[in-house]
Parts: sequence; structure tokens; C-alpha cells
Amino acid sequence: MISGGSSPEGRRHGARSRIGHMTSPFLMRPEIIDGNRRRAAVEYLRTADVVLPTFSELADPALIPTAIGSSLGSVGPDEPNRKNLWRVHWFNDADRRGRAPVPGHVVLPEALTGVKSPIVVLLGRRFPMIGAHKVLAAYACLVPRLVTGEFDPRQDRAVWPSTGNYCRGGIAISRILGCRGVAVLPTGMSRERFDWLQEWVSDPADIIRTPGTESNVKEIYDKCAELADDQDNVILNQFSEFANYLIHYHCTGAAFDHVFSHLKGMNSDYRLAAFVSATGSAGTIAAGDLLKSRHGTKIAAVEAIECPTMLCNGYGEHNIQGIGDKHIPLIHNVMNTDLVVGVSDLASDSLNLLFGGNVGRSYLVGRRKIDPDVVRTFDEIGISGLANIVAAIKVARHLEFGADDVIMTVATDSALLYASERQNFLARRYRDGFDEVNAGEIFSRHLEGIVDDHVLELTHVDRKRIFNLSAVHPAASRCRFWQDAQSDCSSVQREVESHGKFAACCVGLRHPQVLQRLAAWLAAFASSQKQ
Ligand SMILES: Cc1ncc(COP(=O)(O)O)c(C=O)c1O
Repeated sequence: MISGGSSPEGRRHGARSRIGHMTSPFLMRPEIIDGNRRRAAVEYLRTADVVLPTFSELADPALIPTAIGSSLGSVGPDEPNRKNLWRVHWFNDADRRGRAPVPGHVVLPEALTGVKSPIVVLLGRRFPMIGAHKVLAAYACLVPRLVTGEFDPRQDRAVWPSTGNYCRGGIAISRILGCRGVAVLPTGMSRERFDWLQEWVSDPADIIRTPGTESNVKEIYDKCAELADDQDNVILNQFSEFANYLIHYHCTGAAFDHVFSHLKGMNSDYRLAAFVSATGSAGTIAAGDLLKSRHGTKIAAVEAIECPTMLCNGYGEHNIQGIGDKHIPLIHNVMNTDLVVGVSDLASDSLNLLFGGNVGRSYLVGRRKIDPDVVRTFDEIGISGLANIVAAIKVARHLEFGADDVIMTVATDSALLYASERQNFLARRYRDGFDEVNAGEIFSRHLEGIVDDHVLELTHVDRKRIFNLSAVHPAASRCRFWQDAQSDCSSVQREVESHGKFAACCVGLRHPQVLQRLAAWLAAFASSQKQ
């Protein structure tokens, strides 16, 4: 169905509905919204010689045409080059230029974790341009708009609200598609994020700093609500974009499954016992839905103890950058989540220091006899990845997992983004210097000493409580975004109730149809680009 148009009336309607789209959980409606704008997008991208990879190609890069794959050799992984769209997947090798047979990962040994279960960390750093897998989410959120005629790359501005990585991904994708991107993020995020943005935006005004730090997401929404009044701004809100859920279910889920099959090839007794993911937008945790459907895997959502929204409806400040934003995103499939695990940012900041400096590394290798290659891999693990590792250890302890129970988790970004945070932490806590005794204290307290505190196994009532937080949160009640979110949430609840179960799966119900439809749109889009 083709509806709407480029008339002033249609544009006004478009602008109005974009506010709705900030919150609509069923964003990916199976219809072309504006045929004229879709044709304009095809034309524009054809002229720019941009071909869009399909979600299936990104889930399984073996499907990428050989000619495209081999043309990538001359392009650096961090260049703003349209060909880097073809590297937006989990199968990049360690130097991020070529393709690996198995997604990059590290298996952490018992000497490090203190538990028998292998803890497997997938490395988001290998994604192009931003060194974090959030570029995949950004691509997924923009592409459905292009193929349905909801985004005109000639004149629309893509607005990317985020705490840093999603908006960097969005700016990278906007730039290589030749359209305008605007990053909206809290002013207190790591310096490295801002340095990167300065280099990539076409106009410094396209970096909008909102008050606060990691958990000040409401302030980001306030700014977006303001920006949405301009009809040329298209707000791509990762917290409610169904595409964010879908791409992680489809691509990230497949990547984890691939790594697990690879490990099972070495030990047929392995079972994929748990998937652990700290939630920001709750996109990545969607991979758990796929893994659970295939392996019965338990899904654990991680948050900062300093901002315990899922654990006890609380809020607060913390430094696990990228996660825990004082609310439950609409796309979080809460009713399929099994555990919530709280991790202190003192643990992740301390481990960032332990693994990131020479003193800590020499302690780990010399005193603790950890394989130097494993220690080096921590270059590829940022603060939220460290929090995920701590949470995975808590899960192993809590559920008394054994040597065949594999726990999988993710390092969304790398330590490269947190050198400044390491310096801040050193200055705050170790003003007189940091030595091997301090390294030993960190190891004992934040690795060896991990117990299963702040772990909640969710009952049906717990899930309902958390789900209901996605509808109303006291801290957000006056924001326009939340008013919209509230009405959307009640319609989701009504919808799910009419299926006979309360919020059984607020987003999962429809994804096979949406995926099929999207594949058809992308194919039609690609063929019109070639004509
Ligand atoms: C560093 C980091 N870790 C974790 C997350 C959370 O991932 P998700 O938004 O998919 O839940 C993000 C999200 O931006 C992030 O930037």
C-alpha cells in the first residue's frame, strides 16, 4: 500500500506521525508510506553509487556477492566510505579488514573468572568506523525508513539520540549515505566519543549535548521532542525502534549461535546455558530471544547497582557508559527475560584500570598466570563489557553452573574509548600511585571475590512489574515522549492481552512477517537502484 505524499498536507502529517514513531513499538508496518520519497531515495543512492546490504547478508556475510567482498580490500575499516556498509557484521577479522570464519570472541579461563563455566565474550570492536556493534543498530533503524519512503536522504536530517555509540553509528551511516546526521548525547560521556564525533560530523552544530551523564536519557528525549517539531528532523529512537530489536535477533543472535556451534564442535557436551547482556536500548539482548528459542538459554539483563531500575524501580548516576538509563525501553522483551543482575560501576571502573595498564597486566600474567594473549584481548573490551563479564560470573555462581555450561556475553565497544575514564578513576582513587598491591586488591575484590549478590531470578510478577515500568516512570511523567510512550504501551498491553497472555512477548509476535517483508522491500529497492 502506498499512502501519504510530498504535499504540504502530507509533509505535515509526516511530521506529526514522526513523533508517534519515536515511540511506536510496531514501527515496521508492512506498507510503503510515501512512494515519491522512496523513489527519490532510490535515485539519490543510485547516483551516490550506494548499494544497501540486506539484513540476511549482514547475518551471514557468506551471502555477500564476491565482487563486493573483494572490493573492500582497498578500503580502511575506519574510513567514511560507502563500502564499509558491507563490514557492518560480526564476521570481521582481528585487523577488521578481512572476513573471519567465526565472529571474534574470547573464552575466559577459570584462572580469571574463578568459575568452571566457560565465559565467552563476543567483540563488538571489530565493527567498522566506530569500533562498536551499535553501528549495526543504527543501520537497521535507518534502512526501513529509506525503503518505505519515510526518509528522504536529500533533505531529511537523521537524529540519533544516544549515550554515545548508537549516535556515532548513526553519524557514520548518515555520512556514508550522504545525508545529514545529528547526534544527541549527554555532555558527560567519555571524551573519546566527542573526539570521534568532531571528526565525523559535517557541522559541529550537529553534535547536541544534553545535560548530565549516562543515565540522563530523559533529557535526551526532551531535546528530541523539541527537534521533532522541525519536519525535516527524523528521530531514530533506538529505545523504541523495532528494527533495533529485529537486527539483533537476526544478526547478533546468529553470530552468537555461530560461535556456540564452533565451540560445541570442540566439546559436544557444551550447552548454551545463559546469555548475559547489559541493557541500554535493550537491542542487543534480543539476541537472547533467538538463543533461547534454539537452546533453551536463560537470558540475563544487566544494570548498574547505582541505577537499579529493573531490580527495584530505582534510579541514580553511574559510569557503566552505554547502559541503564532509568527506564525500560519499549523494545525490551521483558517477559522473556529470566534474570536481572546488578553490577557496581566501582567493579567495572576498577577492572578497566586493572586490564588497561601495565601494572595490572604484569600482575595478571606474573602472579595470576593468566595467558598473556587473553590479557591482551582486554584491549577489545570496554567498560560495559567488563560489567557483562562480572554479571556472567554472578550468573554462573547463582545458578551453580558447571564446566559444560557455556555463558555468552558481549563487549559492545573496546577499552580504546575509555583511556580518559581510566585516568579520571586513577586521579580519584589512587592519587598516590597504583602498584601491584592495588592490582591484587582489585583482582581479589572484583573478580575472585564475586558472589551472587544483586541477582534476581524473575517471577511472572517481577516481569510484569518491570514491563509496567516501560509505560510509566515517575521521573519521566512530564515529558512528551513519555506521554506518547504511555499510550503506545497501553495499546501494546491491550494487543498482547488479546492474545491471551499478559505481555507474553510485546515485540516478538510479529518478527518473522516483518523480516520477510523487509527482505522483499530491500530486494525491490536494490533492483530499482540498478535500473
Ligand atoms: C558501550 C555500550 N554497552 C552496552 C550498550 C547497550 O546495548 P543495547 O543498547 O543494545 O542494549 C550500549 C548501547 O549503546 C553501549 O554503547
